[in-house]
Amino acid sequence: MTEIRTVGVIGAGTMGNGIAHVFARSGFPVFLYEVQQAALDRGLETMRKNLAREVAKGKLSAEEQDAALARITGTLDRTQLAACDLAVEAATERFEVKAALFAELDRTLPQEAILASNTSSISITRLAAQTKRPDRVIGMHFFNPVPVMTLVEVIRGLQTSQATFDAVHGVALALGKSPVEVHDAAGFVSNRVLMPMINEAIFAVMEGVATAEAVDQVFKLGMAHPMGPLTLADFIGLDVCLDIMRVLQEGIGDPKYRPCPLLVRMVDAGWLGRKSGRGFYTYS
Ligand code: 3HC
Repeated sequence: MTEIRTVGVIGAGTMGNGIAHVFARSGFPVFLYEVQQAALDRGLETMRKNLAREVAKGKLSAEEQDAALARITGTLDRTQLAACDLAVEAATERFEVKAALFAELDRTLPQEAILASNTSSISITRLAAQTKRPDRVIGMHFFNPVPVMTLVEVIRGLQTSQATFDAVHGVALALGKSPVEVHDAAGFVSNRVLMPMINEAIFAVMEGVATAEAVDQVFKLGMAHPMGPLTLADFIGLDVCLDIMRVLQEGIGDPKYRPCPLLVRMVDAGWLGRKSGRGFYTYS
C-alpha cells in the first residue's frame, strides 16, 4: 500500500487552501500548486487567516500554527509535485480542465503515487481514464469550510483498487475527518441529494411561494439546518450549484434534475453568491 508522506494540492481556491490547511495542520508536508501568483497569494493568505482563527479559538497553539505554515510550500512549478505520494486536485469544476490536469499529474508524479480529485460531481472513472494508473485514481470530496466540516466522501471509480481506497481512507482518518465510502455516480451522495433541495428552494422563490428569507427560516427553524438552502447556495457559489445540476441532469437523465431558470438567470447576470457580492442576499 502506498505510504502517504508528502501531499500535493492542485488549486489554492476555497477548497484547495482548506485542503492544504488540514493536511499541513495534521503534520503532512504540502506543495500547494497554482497557475497564477495572485491566486496562490490569496490562497496562502486565507490559510494564514483561518489558522490564526483556530489559534484565537484555542484549538491550535501558536507553535502548531507556525509549524503548519512551515510545512506548506506554495509553487507555480508543477515539477515540484514529483515529490508527492498523493495529489489532491481541487481545480476548476470543468471536465476538460481536470482531464488535462490528470494526464499531466500522471506524467509528473511517481508511478506508485495516488491521484485524488476533490470534484463535487465529475466521474472519477472518466478522470482515471486520462491516466495510465486508473487503479490509483480516487475521489476525495471535502466540504466547505474544509477545516470545520468533518465529512470526506471517498469515491471509488470503477477501477480504483482496494489498496488505493484503504490508503485514502486512512489518510482521511489521519486528518481527523470521517470518511464515508461512496461509489462513482453523478453527484455521488452529497450533491445528488443536496443540490435538488437547493434547486427546489429556488423554484419556490421563483414561483413566489415564499421569499428567500422565509425559505431559509423554514429550514433553520424547522429542520435545524445551520444555514437555509439559499444562504447555503450563496456560500457554495451559484455557478457551482448550476454546474452540478447540469452534471446530474446529463448523468442521470431524469428531468427532475433540470436547473431552475432563476438559477440560470442569476448566474448569467454574474450574481454568483457570496464571492461576487450578490446572490439571494447581498454581501459587503
Ligand atoms: N476555517 C476554520 N474555522 C472556521 C472557518 C474556516 N474557514 N469558518 C468557520 N470556522 C469555525 C469558527 O471559528 C467556529 O468555531 P467554534 O465553533 O470553535 O467557535 C465555527 O467554525 C463556527 O463558525 P462561526 O461561529 O463563525 O459561524 P457559524 O456558527 O454560523 O458556522 C458554518 C459557520 C460552520 C459555515 C455553519 O454555518 C455551517 O455548518 N454551514 C453549513 C455548511 C455546509 O453545509 N457546508 C457544505 C457545503 S456543500 C460542499 O461543500 C460540497 C460541494 O461539493 C458543493
